[in-house]
Amino acid sequence: MKTDGKRGRLILRPGGVLRGEVAVPGDKSISHRAVMLASMARGASEIRNWLAAGDTEATLGAMRALGADITRHDANALTIDGGNLREATAPLNLMNAGTGIRLLAGIMAGQSFPSVLDGSEQLRRRPMKRITTPLQQMGAEIESDNGGCPLRIRPAALKGITYEMPVASAQVKSAILLSGLYGDSPTTVIQPGPARDHTERMLRSLGARVSEDGNAITVYPHDELAPLDLTVPGDFSSAAFLLVAGLIAPGSDLTIKGVNLNPTRTGLLDVLEEMGADIELSNLTEQAGEPIGDIRVKTSQLEGVDIGGETVVRMIDEFPILMVAALRAEGETLVRDARELRVKETDRIAVMAGELRKLGANIEERDDGFRIVGPQALTGAQVDGHDDHRIAMSLTVAGMISAEGAVVTDAACAGDSFPGFAETLGDLGALLVAD
Ligand code: S3P
Repeated sequence: MKTDGKRGRLILRPGGVLRGEVAVPGDKSISHRAVMLASMARGASEIRNWLAAGDTEATLGAMRALGADITRHDANALTIDGGNLREATAPLNLMNAGTGIRLLAGIMAGQSFPSVLDGSEQLRRRPMKRITTPLQQMGAEIESDNGGCPLRIRPAALKGITYEMPVASAQVKSAILLSGLYGDSPTTVIQPGPARDHTERMLRSLGARVSEDGNAITVYPHDELAPLDLTVPGDFSSAAFLLVAGLIAPGSDLTIKGVNLNPTRTGLLDVLEEMGADIELSNLTEQAGEPIGDIRVKTSQLEGVDIGGETVVRMIDEFPILMVAALRAEGETLVRDARELRVKETDRIAVMAGELRKLGANIEERDDGFRIVGPQALTGAQVDGHDDHRIAMSLTVAGMISAEGAVVTDAACAGDSFPGFAETLGDLGALLVAD
């Protein structure tokens, strides 16, 4: 099941200025969950502004293979008739989607039929013990190859447990909560930090009972979820690339509309504000049970910052782009407690540091983070996206502010979470050519 491969080349010229208004695609985390929960719920669910991207399409394909009746009105509008999941005829291929495979494993553990969950070579290298251990404690019959996927799951009776998570991970928390719906008694997960809470919010809105006591979250067994009717908000993690680009590309002033501002996701906003960023939020309202708003950003002189503790999980996907911001900031930026970055789509500390060095950056890698002293000028070079969407997008932004421009190879993987990223950046004023 190999889906890896080098695709897409972007040529960046220096000097682009970002101006205007833009909307980012729908939230990836919510889009994965929406397709899974709608497939579980009995009846017709309506989903609008769904993210049609590499990772979420993989989840959609898996749910279809499991019997969900999915009608696409266009790329982003779906009706899903769920409630009749059945055995798939072949292993499910979640491609590069860590969220897809881990959450689906939690759901499959509670079904009355077996399943095999697999993915790309990249996904096969990612740790799965973090979900198989708690699921097995619940009684799940789940086997993994050397701690990774493929995962082979057989039907089993599940019992409620209390589980203290060793790492702050929304994927692990969600896998346990979803399988907890099928338990014989309540299941409690204790999280070390405030990992994104979309699963809890969505389960509640579909009629499941989920209670919270500090960092302990309890889900009660529930057999029939109500269908969803939801417009997915814009993805803050996609907005983050435009946000940082706007802050560091001289003369920029841009507004990103309709972005999810769930506080378990917006650690980067707090950090950028501490760095001195000129950011303004407006049109604050609620959509799909999530706070949303518009973000206006203007070029700003940034200062270095210290990041550690609970902020890390609230911005876990934003460290590659934070590295680019830190290179432009005056003084020291120090990141601690972020060892999880080493088990994302790639080892994001090593890969970002390695690629940015090609552009002349000086970055000190630490076991659980990094140290950057700025401001640093970037030169020109060819850099590579490593089949990791967030690496490819961060390097594209770095290329924009390099003195001689840059070439980003393997840039098309940006489409795993942000289809149209290069076009969006180009429309706003970045000087780039796709090749
Ligand atoms: C996600 C959780 C995070 C994040 C990923 C999406 C989710 O992973 O990095 O991009 O949708 O639950 P971890 O749970 O491994 O931290």
